[in-house]
Amino acid sequence: MAMASNGALVLTQEEFAMVCRWAYDTCGLDLKPGKEELVASRLGKQIRRLGFASFRDYYRVLKEQSDGPVMSAAIDAITTHHTSFLREPAHFEFLNKQVFPSLAAAGRVRVWCAASSTGEEPYSLILSAEDALGSTLAQRIELMASDVSEPALEAARRGVYGADRVSALPAAWLPRYFLKGQGAFAGRYRVKPAYAQRVDFRRVNLIEPLPSIGPFSVILCRNVMIYFDRPTQERLIERMREVLEPGGYLLVGHAESLTGVKHQLEYIHPSVYRKAGSKCR
Ligand SMILES: C[S@@+](CC[C@H](N)C(=O)[O-])C[C@H]1O[C@@H](n2cnc3c(N)ncnc32)[C@H](O)[C@@H]1O
Repeated sequence: MAMASNGALVLTQEEFAMVCRWAYDTCGLDLKPGKEELVASRLGKQIRRLGFASFRDYYRVLKEQSDGPVMSAAIDAITTHHTSFLREPAHFEFLNKQVFPSLAAAGRVRVWCAASSTGEEPYSLILSAEDALGSTLAQRIELMASDVSEPALEAARRGVYGADRVSALPAAWLPRYFLKGQGAFAGRYRVKPAYAQRVDFRRVNLIEPLPSIGPFSVILCRNVMIYFDRPTQERLIERMREVLEPGGYLLVGHAESLTGVKHQLEYIHPSVYRKAGSKCR
């Protein structure tokens, strides 16, 4: 470990390789050469915050902990949480027009957001369904949302967002679905508990065998497989296929084509795949 003149952490090639191995084994991240500075900057903050004298001291603790605060903060630091409300809106339109109406008319609809980050994606799903289908049908959607990062899940459970995060939402949504912060909370918006409590947030690491969570009519696994290598993607898609109902849908990020990835799902249109069978109509 070395320090640049601005105090930033600089990792040796060997140290970078150690972090890559750890990130791959822990959460499947396929960190490529070229990410040295990013990794050093993110871990450097942890090393300073926790008061470690060297990268090696920090890394030793990280390797010793299979769980715990140092590990949890490192996973949060090394993963990318970029997300936004109504990101890739075509998916919400597709679900609300072509998938949810008939499923919700027939009964409960189980949906899983498999990399929910700080919550904008699952809340977008609940709120857009509420808006498009009305309360009676939307309430039949049972949404589980998961992520590997505990801090991201905590933020998602709080459901509090700055004005900049909600500014692109339809104006009518703010008074309808959010509580506006007052006093010390001015400028912040909280998803109303009536909607927030419809999301069951849990920690699931997508590279591990899935806990017994299925079956689902729809899985959104968006903008996370880009960080995984091909074998990890293939294992994950197969595990998700197993917990999909026959006829259930898998939605991936628009930049995440499954071309070249071995899977047994039917291609519907870009970023939308379906399991064979016909329970979900
Ligand atoms: C870029 S965000 C995508 C958020 C949201 N799905 C979207 O499209 O806006 C990727 C999320 O995947 C999570 N992630 C990374 N590796 C993971 C793993 N092995 N298991 C579960 N979640 C993981 C990260 O913590 C992060 O919150």
